[in-house]
Amino acid sequence: MANDQEIVGSLKQKLAKIFEESLRLTVPEEVDIDPSIAICQKPEFGDYQCNNAMGLWSKIKGKGTQFRGPQPLGQAIRENLPTSEIIDSCTIAGAGFVNVVVSRQYIAKSIENMLVQGIETWAPKLQVKRAVVDFSSPNIAKQMHVGHLRSTIIGDTIARMLEFSNVEVLRRNHVGDWGTQFGMLIEYLFEKFPSGEVTSSQDIGDLEAIYKASKQRFDNDPKFKERAQQAVVSLQAGVQNYRDAWANICEISRRGYEKIYQRLGIHLEEKGESFYNPYIPRVLDELGEKGLIEESDGARVIFIEGKTIPLIVVKRDGGFNYASTDLAALWYRLNEEKAEWIIYVTDVGQREHFEMFFAAASRAGWLPIEDKDEAKSKCKATLVERGKSKEWTDNELDEIAEAIGYGAIKYADLKNNRKTDYTFSYDQMLNDKGNTAVYLLYAHARICSIIRKSGADMEKLKKKGSLDLAHPDERRLGLHLLQFSEHVEESCLNLLPNVLCEYLYNLSENFTKFYTNCQVVGSSEETSRLLLCEATAIVMRKCFHLLGITPVYKI
Ligand code: ARG
Repeated sequence: MANDQEIVGSLKQKLAKIFEESLRLTVPEEVDIDPSIAICQKPEFGDYQCNNAMGLWSKIKGKGTQFRGPQPLGQAIRENLPTSEIIDSCTIAGAGFVNVVVSRQYIAKSIENMLVQGIETWAPKLQVKRAVVDFSSPNIAKQMHVGHLRSTIIGDTIARMLEFSNVEVLRRNHVGDWGTQFGMLIEYLFEKFPSGEVTSSQDIGDLEAIYKASKQRFDNDPKFKERAQQAVVSLQAGVQNYRDAWANICEISRRGYEKIYQRLGIHLEEKGESFYNPYIPRVLDELGEKGLIEESDGARVIFIEGKTIPLIVVKRDGGFNYASTDLAALWYRLNEEKAEWIIYVTDVGQREHFEMFFAAASRAGWLPIEDKDEAKSKCKATLVERGKSKEWTDNELDEIAEAIGYGAIKYADLKNNRKTDYTFSYDQMLNDKGNTAVYLLYAHARICSIIRKSGADMEKLKKKGSLDLAHPDERRLGLHLLQFSEHVEESCLNLLPNVLCEYLYNLSENFTKFYTNCQVVGSSEETSRLLLCEATAIVMRKCFHLLGITPVYKI
């Protein structure tokens, strides 16, 4: 077998390759067996286990096989393993589970390589080249609520993880910059500023208040309502002063959002709803040709199996809506941008819309039908629970306080499974014990100070030194470092940043255990242990980076 350092992929993927070879030898008559490799739940059994024997046994037992049960099958899988520097030893447990202990030398060598060649060599390999992440996406002239904030933070981390995995990511801000609300907004502002400031001045007051006031007029004054509806027509027909007013309103909102993005250090590219407007007619034509669009109650709709109400794509007044825009945007992302994954990060209030819209896209043959897993890998709706409306406070923190403060908020959000609601509590998230960013940032700073105080020249050590990992806590920490890649991978595949948070937290725990039980500076293993500290700090920093958190080096 080739040098195992050169097989690409995470440790788990490498083990899967090795087991795949053994499975092919063990049961040559069964083709394409997916090796099932998992981290051992109980470390006393080993580091990884291969779980194939039991399932394979039930597949082959009726076919006159030489094996007499899952255990002998597991035995054979073990015996047929090609020699590999990764595996130290294997044992069989229960119904043919093959438990693997990873070689200490292999762990050490892998870390040495990473220290010289950089953490990028530990990036997971994904099957996808280009992805759209649709996140943040607030609505013009309306307040950015906590649901948008969560979407911004979670979406950014998903984008960062994919980028680290060498996926080209199109970070899309699908802002709500089109629709009937502009009619009443513009009409109201024309009335309030008769001399035309609306089309040019940034100084027209608080947009949200204007929105509320115009909405009230719209609901209570039938004449105003009529004018507002006419304004929408003028805007969509491209009448100059309506276009200018619209563009100016968008610009005012945009500046407000930009401030928030800047503060969070998050980059997005705006392609709002208006961008897709010109594409809607031809996309609807395509859907019409496929026989998907029907007339219902004066509107044009798409019926969805299992839903009583259809998806409206052209309103009774002939206008397009949120759904027709999303269909056009999906068409554009698939056909023009050639995205293989499209990830929507939005609050759970939109579940119904997305279910309907994805079902319509499946009917059109744009997405794989029925097969949930396939559909999942192509187009995923990420739903973020909408919390109670809380304001983003305007803190004037100095640099470190800012890193910790923002890190704490992001981490508190990301560490939760994104499907669960969370309570917003500064006390909890700023706690320096437990699973918080503050605790993790402290842990990282402590490692940096250990290295600094040792006075060692780390660059020299990285090139010359070697790792030993003789103590069980050193080995455990080393193995955990090697598992970085597969955790990023899992986090990407399932779109769950909390997997990465948990990994980071456990890394910190493993480090603490190591540091408590193994003397670093002044011991005979000083070089090896300093390198292990350095590797831990590098992996921690990469985790922080992926989570959009700024590390601190001193506390
Ligand atoms: N602007 C929408 C809202 O705030 C979210 C947009 C989500 N993305 C999408 N492609 N529909 O409710």
